Amino acid sequence: MPITTCIFDAYGTLFDVTAAARQAASEPDFAQIKDSWPQIAEHWRLKQLQYSWLRAVTGAHTDFWRVTQDGLDWALERTGHGDDTALRERLLALYWELQAYVEVPEILQTLKSGGMNTAILSNGSPAMLRGAVDSAGIDGVLDALLSVESVGIFKPDARVYDLVGDAFDCTKEQVLFVSSNGWDAAAATGYGFTTAWVNRAGDPVDRLPWKPAHILTDLTGIPALAGL
Ligand code: LAC
Repeated sequence: MPITTCIFDAYGTLFDVTAAARQAASEPDFAQIKDSWPQIAEHWRLKQLQYSWLRAVTGAHTDFWRVTQDGLDWALERTGHGDDTALRERLLALYWELQAYVEVPEILQTLKSGGMNTAILSNGSPAMLRGAVDSAGIDGVLDALLSVESVGIFKPDARVYDLVGDAFDCTKEQVLFVSSNGWDAAAATGYGFTTAWVNRAGDPVDRLPWKPAHILTDLTGIPALAGL
């Protein structure tokens, strides 16, 4: 069945989640993280995701902005910056304007010109997604910003993936779901989507019951996978 609908994860897939720590580290006011910013970025992302999964399995939902702050607080304390409120505020502000990966605007434009439905499906709150999309200037090439906040639980709960079928007139098989998170691509395969894992970091495949249908190193191969 031909692909009609290309759905993208946001953080790590379209937007570079390491950009906030890297940017702050380059600013004179935050030279204290010149060497440690990669560790801060890694701990921050890992804790943010762990907290999203733990809140999902325990039914203790909150929005992604809360777990983003909680993850950062853990990461700053872990790296010896727990009392640095100016650094905390700067990193959080930068999270609202993360850089998009360089190929993102052109790939989305190609998909739109080829007649595809395009959307983001993300843990991000509607306000966070709006901020990131506006700052990257890609609003005109996305049909929808689908946030887990409409169902009140984080990925990879199936109710999140259901949002795609609610928003677009398509079957699961007509959806190409694109994520840089191996666990998200795997779970979406289990759900029934055709999936592409964007393995920018060269990570091993996640040991889960489902595997991504395709593995890419960036987004440039997506139009071909969509049949364009
Ligand atoms: C998202 C996270 C998982 O955008 O990257 O949903």
